[in-house]
Amino acid sequence: MLINFKAVLKWFVICSNSMLLFYSTCCNADINASAGLECSKADKSTSEDEFQTNLKKLLNSLVAEAPYRNGFNESREGKDSNKVYGIVQCRGDVSVSECDNCTKESISIALRDCSKSKHVKVWLKWCFL
Ligand SMILES: *[C@@H]1O[C@H](CO)[C@@H](O)[C@H](O)[C@H]1NC(C)=O
Ligand SMILES: *[C@@H]1O[C@H](CO)[C@@H](O)[C@H](O)[C@H]1NC(C)=O
Ligand SMILES: *[C@@H]1O[C@H](CO)[C@@H](O)[C@H](O)[C@H]1NC(C)=O
Repeated sequence: MLINFKAVLKWFVICSNSMLLFYSTCCNADINASAGLECSKADKSTSEDEFQTNLKKLLNSLVAEAPYRNGFNESREGKDSNKVYGIVQCRGDVSVSECDNCTKESISIALRDCSKSKHVKVWLKWCFL
């Protein structure tokens, strides 16, 4: 979840690289959630109402869409500097319900362990948020 577009692009590049690494090294291993978690440093503005509202909409939309769109959805909410971005990618061989479960799990981990971060990545066995 990010605020500006350049940062998002950079993030995508970094993510796809680390995703590749991740999948190639430990694809079928049972991964501890905390081993696949990256949170940016705490940012006070994450407590602002507008950020929280956009974030909530974004996460709801990712949960609602990704499992039914071949395990992938990229979405955004909000305007200008308050825009938040998110992407969910489930592994190609997991079912809709596994993708749904994993998306929900990844979101609850992000909200629990990185609640003050603007930039969060969660890797689980079945999906990436
Ligand atoms: C998984 O995470 C828990 C809590 O963060 C830790 O105590 C445990 O040692 C980890 N297990 C592995 C296999 O890394
Ligand atoms: C993600 O879901 C939204 C609906 O919330 C949809 O408009 C959008 O096209 C989807 N994007 C992708 C890449 O699937
Ligand atoms: C996902 O599945 C696991 C194992 O069946 C279950 O413990 C967990 O509650 C599920 N999570 C969600 C968010 O449904």
